[in-house]
Amino acid sequence: MIKISPSILSCDYGRMADELKCMEECGADLMHIDVMDGHFVPNITLGAPVCKCIKKYTDVPFDVHLMISEPLKYVEDFCRAGADIICFHTESDSDTGETIDRIIECGAKPALAIKPKTDIDAVLPYLEKIAMVLVMTVEPGFGGQSFMADQMDKVRRIRDEINKRGLKTDIEVDGGINGETISIAAAAGANVFVSGSALFSASDRKETMDGFKEKAGTAFAG
Ligand code: DX5
Ligand code: ZN
Repeated sequence: MIKISPSILSCDYGRMADELKCMEECGADLMHIDVMDGHFVPNITLGAPVCKCIKKYTDVPFDVHLMISEPLKYVEDFCRAGADIICFHTESDSDTGETIDRIIECGAKPALAIKPKTDIDAVLPYLEKIAMVLVMTVEPGFGGQSFMADQMDKVRRIRDEINKRGLKTDIEVDGGINGETISIAAAAGANVFVSGSALFSASDRKETMDGFKEKAGTAFAG
């Protein structure tokens, strides 16, 4: 199933509640919350207290992307703050298997993210246990960067493996997704699309979201 997950990294932080409502009304399937610690990535955004405060303004499930060095330490906080999906990086310092187990214990869905230079071997052993793989299509840290088309080979190989094993694991792409790149990613086998700058800066967000869904649906190679 095709899902759009607007990245609130590109929203007006002073009007977050309105921005979430707006994206909900435009048809967002998930709400992508980018958490950065200034250590795993060279930027700082927000933590669990903010996540908890904004959770009450929308019914759209929270897709929390932890770009932090020690995700295991904060799993419980983010679960309590209303995270529905918790996605962390295999390149972080926490043990991957243990962190996945903790997320499940706390009642959220686990997802694993890989940076552009990381091979898919890092996620393949966990496909049965996780709800989603996130293939970064930019170096994590900032919105508004250009889509890395060379990551599509990884998306194709993960999709093949998911199909071969008869799984339903989602594949999410994050970074530089717009009206053109969404078709490229969907054709490679991605079905969940994060979009920050393209969606939030659109003059008509609803029309842009509808266009994204239509293009992804047409191009999707499942
Ligand atoms: C980058 C973040 C992305 C980013 C996407 O580190 O993980 O979610 O906000 O923004 P755009 O769509 O502008 O590339
Ligand atoms: Zn993200």
